[in-house]
Amino acid sequence: MSLLETKAVTKTFGANRAVDAVDFTVRAGELLALIGSNGAGKTTLVNLISGLLRADEGTILFAGKDVTRQTVNQRIRAGIARSFQLVNLFDGLSAVDNIALTIFARQGKTRSLATLAARDQAVAEEAMLILKEFGLAPKAPTLAGGLSQGERKLLDVAVAYALRPKLLFLDEPTSGVSTREKAPIMDVVTSIVRSGNITAVVIEHDMDIVFRYSDRIVAMHQGAILADGTPEEIRRNEQVTTTLIGTGETR
Ligand SMILES: Nc1ncnc2c1ncn2[C@@H]1O[C@H](COP(=O)(O)OP(=O)(O)O)[C@@H](O)[C@H]1O
Ligand SMILES: [Mg+2]
Repeated sequence: MSLLETKAVTKTFGANRAVDAVDFTVRAGELLALIGSNGAGKTTLVNLISGLLRADEGTILFAGKDVTRQTVNQRIRAGIARSFQLVNLFDGLSAVDNIALTIFARQGKTRSLATLAARDQAVAEEAMLILKEFGLAPKAPTLAGGLSQGERKLLDVAVAYALRPKLLFLDEPTSGVSTREKAPIMDVVTSIVRSGNITAVVIEHDMDIVFRYSDRIVAMHQGAILADGTPEEIRRNEQVTTTLIGTGETR
C-alpha cells in the first residue's frame, strides 16, 4: 500500500520548474533512496511534501488523505517529519535536551530551554531511550555543539525521529561526515525502519550507501523522475548511470 502519493506536483521558481509534474510514491515500510545531481529538485520535493513550500499544482496524498493545503504542523501531526541538509540542532543544549525539546513540542507543551529533560521524568526517559537506540546514550549530557560531525548528524536524525513520524525524510544524513561515520548513521536508519512502523526516504549522494541500504531508488533529474526501481534495476539502468553516476558503468 502506498503511504504517500504525489500526483503531478509542481513547483516553479520564476522560469525554473524545480519540481515538474512529479508522481512520487512511497510504500509503507520501505527505505527509499532519493537520488539525483545537485539542483535535480530533491529538496524541493521534500519541502513540498513536508509543507515548507506550497505546491503550485498537483496533489499530495498521505495515508489516503489529501494534505496538499495543510500546514507544516498539521502534516507533522499527521506523521510526516523531516531532517535538514544542514543540521538543525540547538548547540547550547545537551544531546538529551535536544530530544526532550522535540518530545515536548510533539506533546504540544512548551518549556524554558534550561534543563528540559530534568523537568519531566517521562520525557527524560523517552529521550534517553531514543539516544540509546541511536548509540548516543553516553553523549546525553554533552552539548550538541561539542559533538563530532557524525554524532551531530545522528542526533539530528534522532530529533526528527522523536516526533514519532510514520514517514521520515532525511535530507543527506551522511553528508559532510567521514566514510567511517556513514555506516553507523545508515545502520540506525535501517534499524528504525525494520523494527518500527517507520517508512524512510533518504536523500543520498554516496551511491555505495544507496545501493547497500535502500529497498528502492527513485532518481530525479531536472525536476522530473528519471527512474524508479530496485537497487539492481537502477544499477543496470544506463540512463541513470550516465546521467547521475556519470561513469556510464555500473559498479
Ligand atoms: N527557494 C528557492 N528559490 C529559488 N530557486 C530555488 C529555491 N530552492 C530551490 N531552487 C532551485 O530549484 C532547483 C532544485 O533545487 P533543489 O530542490 O534544492 O535540488 P536538490 O535538492 O536536488 O539539489 C534548483 O535549480 C535550485 O536552484
Ligand atoms: Mg538538496
